[in-house]
Amino acid sequence: MMKPDAQTVSAALARLARNIDEAERAMTPPSPLPASLPLDIPDDAFLPFIRDAIDGENPSVQQDSLEKGKEDGRQVQFLGASDVLFPDTEARDYSSCSLKELSTLVSSCKNCRLCETRTYTVFGEGQEEHPVVMVIGEGPGRDEDLSGRPFVGKGGQYMDRWFAPIGVSRQTNAYIANIVKCRPPGNRDPLPDEVQACIPYLRRQIALVQPRVILLAGAVAAHAILETKEGVGALRGRTFSYMNIPVIVTYHPAGVLRNLDRLRAPVWEDMKRLASMVGLPVHAGKKQT
Ligand code: URA
Ligand code: SF4
Repeated sequence: MMKPDAQTVSAALARLARNIDEAERAMTPPSPLPASLPLDIPDDAFLPFIRDAIDGENPSVQQDSLEKGKEDGRQVQFLGASDVLFPDTEARDYSSCSLKELSTLVSSCKNCRLCETRTYTVFGEGQEEHPVVMVIGEGPGRDEDLSGRPFVGKGGQYMDRWFAPIGVSRQTNAYIANIVKCRPPGNRDPLPDEVQACIPYLRRQIALVQPRVILLAGAVAAHAILETKEGVGALRGRTFSYMNIPVIVTYHPAGVLRNLDRLRAPVWEDMKRLASMVGLPVHAGKKQT
């Protein structure tokens, strides 16, 4: 499926906002919320978050958003939130922020639509000064959204086990973060404009943390950082560079869990390669991937 560019999405949302304004004007206040929203829905393939909220696939999103709308006198504020979309990413400069300041900014960030549906932002955690590796995943899942911590669900716990035999852990020498800091609804992939809105935080995080190696877990992280469309199968085993830091790629733990027979061996190869890059011994007896 073709992903829309920011302009197309922006135009669709502007159209939507006009429809909302018209619908609001047509109502004589105080009027109850209509049972169905009077909206001209843009191509929903572009905007699954809107489709989810409208057709009730995700009723909690719809309900929360309607509640918010009621509070501030608007009906569907979550749909017309043009003030939080397409920020001037280039203009944002975090170059003087400490990690703590950056994390505070993230915790109240509204630079993309994912702020509407998150519970907690997930900034990242681990060894903050020159870790041997900074692991970058795609974005929070359900467990991460509810806890505010990265990679704590089933996939994350499994990933911790990849690292044990090479002596890597977030408690000692690894830092773990994601491309986007808020959970995409239903765990969909983050959209290109969401990645674009969020990645300046990650860039500052990398600049501050200065890991020896960056490990990209999965295609979303690899595509966002390496700006390629090649699959993980073609990217792993090679060494790239990002902000002058060596970068390697492996599969996403959730994908590996779904296909253990085929993917656990290559992941183990990737872990051994990571260990040799940073000079860590491999305890093969403890292999647990
Ligand atoms: N998947 C990710 O990519 N990141 C997390 O933090 C959790 C699951
Ligand atoms: Fe802000 Fe990133 Fe969350 Fe979007 S995903 S609201 S840019 S912190």
